Amino acid sequence: MFDRLTEQPADKILMLMQAFKDDPREQKIDLGVGVYKDASGNTPIFRAIKEAEKRWWGQEETKAYTGLAGDPGYADVMVDLVLGDAVPRANVAAAGTPGGTGACRQGFDLAKLANPDLRVFVSNPTWPNHLSILKHMGIEMVPYRYFDDETRGVDFDGMMADLAQAKAGDVVLVHGCCHNPTGANLNLTQWQVLVDLLLKTGATPMVDIAYQGFGDGLDEDAAAVRLVASQVPECLIAASCSKNFGIYRERTGILMAVAQDGDRRALNQGTLNYLNRQNYSFPPDHGARMVTLVLGDAGLRADWAAELEEIRRSMLGLREQLAGELQRLSGSDRFGFIAQHRGMFSRLGASPEQVERMREKHGIYMVGDSRLNIAGLNAQSVPILAKAIVDVGV
Ligand code: LMR
Repeated sequence: MFDRLTEQPADKILMLMQAFKDDPREQKIDLGVGVYKDASGNTPIFRAIKEAEKRWWGQEETKAYTGLAGDPGYADVMVDLVLGDAVPRANVAAAGTPGGTGACRQGFDLAKLANPDLRVFVSNPTWPNHLSILKHMGIEMVPYRYFDDETRGVDFDGMMADLAQAKAGDVVLVHGCCHNPTGANLNLTQWQVLVDLLLKTGATPMVDIAYQGFGDGLDEDAAAVRLVASQVPECLIAASCSKNFGIYRERTGILMAVAQDGDRRALNQGTLNYLNRQNYSFPPDHGARMVTLVLGDAGLRADWAAELEEIRRSMLGLREQLAGELQRLSGSDRFGFIAQHRGMFSRLGASPEQVERMREKHGIYMVGDSRLNIAGLNAQSVPILAKAIVDVGV
């Protein structure tokens, strides 16, 4: 049987992570994988998470199974964090998943169960793993225009024109905030136009929200998903705690199925439980438990939110610094978009050859499509990056 296996494509982001590790040069900068690094290059554990872990160590009495959807307390705090009071809690079915990736996978699985001829509309570009998972699952993908290479903003007219082709039974996958890989986002007026179009076409939105708190703030970043969920008849939401709680390796995510009608919840919840059972039974507990403890304790929650806000502000500062440095070195405003983008990433607009040269000559690692991880920078590395960008002729 094994001799019938063929080589699978390696994930480009993870390959880059390895290439960076293998690079013996001391002067190297990792702007690849989406992981936050502080000024000394570490990915720290949030203070509130560390404290929750200490407390939990003393309290935990069993490691027996939870439920198929994970701990119900986790679902409650996450629905509250993401949706606030945008929809009645009774309308939301939710199940813990291994990370945001698991939530995406389960969401596609649910949609395929409902519609075997499923088509998923994906932004061009989107997170490469969206495409890889959909391909692996044999689900048809329909790209919609998203990034305008000229303005480095959203090609909103193109996006609307392409999404007008969607119909009931299709899923439209959108990034709730901090678009990965471009950093370019819709404003709330545009989100409303998108919602109106979704209502007209009858397509079901699936919102992937993996960076809540990294863009404009916790509530600001959730404004779009709340707008969508409160107006469409049904939607899927895949949320991740990897970045905003800094618990990447704990694999903590959640999939929500929101209906306007509370009667649907039991069936939706049963489906989510069923899908968890088929794929891995129970979702991982530790990360979810820490999130529940942090969000459920006023002191820990305030400390977590404050630390997240520090990170967000430091990323905004780095964006300003990089845009300013590039303006100085290039003598032009053409890099101003870096300060406008939000979240961990910005698509620089460099060619694959220029990206390659930055890696070879300057030891700077970014994804081949010129996505750079702003959270991988610090005040010292920004001028080095700016010089390299100008040096390779971007
Ligand atoms: C990224 O886009 O770099 C992150 O979401 C990490 C990953 O799993 O790809």
